[in-house]
Amino acid sequence: MLVSGKPFRTIWMPDASTVRIIDQRRLPWSFDLLDLCTVAEVAHAIKDMAVRGAGLIGATAGYGMALAAREASDMAELEVLATSLVQTRPTAVNLSWAVQRQLAGIRAASFDQRVEVARTEAERIADEDAEACTAIGQHGLEIIRDIAARKPGQVVNILTHCNAGWLAFVDHGSATAPIYAAHAAGVPVHVWVDETRPRNQGARLTTWELSQQGVPHTVIADNTGGHLMQHGLVDLVITGADRVTRCGDVANKIGTYLKALAARDNNVPFYVALPSSTFDATLREGVKEIPIEQRDANEITHMEGLAADGSVQTVRIVPEGSHVVNYGFDVTPARLITGLITESGVRSA
Ligand code: MRU
Repeated sequence: MLVSGKPFRTIWMPDASTVRIIDQRRLPWSFDLLDLCTVAEVAHAIKDMAVRGAGLIGATAGYGMALAAREASDMAELEVLATSLVQTRPTAVNLSWAVQRQLAGIRAASFDQRVEVARTEAERIADEDAEACTAIGQHGLEIIRDIAARKPGQVVNILTHCNAGWLAFVDHGSATAPIYAAHAAGVPVHVWVDETRPRNQGARLTTWELSQQGVPHTVIADNTGGHLMQHGLVDLVITGADRVTRCGDVANKIGTYLKALAARDNNVPFYVALPSSTFDATLREGVKEIPIEQRDANEITHMEGLAADGSVQTVRIVPEGSHVVNYGFDVTPARLITGLITESGVRSA
């Protein structure tokens, strides 16, 4: 994807001992790259959400394991480092998927080969993520084309929640990939961007990347989607996913379930886009079984923004003493989902 017109990926290794990322905590106010040189630094970057989004968390964990292979002097030490990565965030399954994949590869090789094996596998995980997102884009494009064909000469309005874009993966994004593909193919699209409280990944990140790509969009408060759907202003919803059970229940950013309910009530198609690394075949019933992250109360009580003097400031918006609870994700049952867009095609949930 483009940053100031220049192609970029969200993560790469400039040399054998460095993982380079875009520090997403500073977007959209400033575009900064950050170098991670130890497993502890990688774990902190995931936990503190310098990197975030299921696909990118997986790719970062893959690269973290490449550093772990250099740091560990035996398999036991490597497994301790692997656990420190897995424990950073609970909901996105791509994290443990990438770590387990790396451990399996290292176990299958001789311990002497571990550094080379882990680095190669990390690059493969990142490349596969980008390739999966490209394919998701092409499959999702067909859905957008079908809708465009039913309203010739008019714009297709797509609502998305949170950031399941390029920034949440290695390239292209999942929910945004069909949008980027449609835009590139000349299909007129417009995106309703949920601001996505509490951390505002929609308002801060999805807007930023859609702007970089020149895709028309409008930011809405999280509660606006239902009203837009009632007035025929949403043609389809596409969200991402952090974990999908074998029954097709989807964990995604908190608030996704409410969008799916509103979409069902208004006959708006509701699609979820994900690479196959986000499936968790060990789980069946999403609401009961998917672990839901609870995050710091500060994300609710405070907001960060750009002050009039250009400085980034944090302000309190909830009175001292009010009790706060902050669930990061919710589960949308398969019955509310029109289809899952994966790299292999579109299937029912
Ligand atoms: O908490 P985050 O920012 O890591 O949230 C994950 C997400 O970005 C969303 O839930 C997204 O829609 C799916 S992940 C690509």
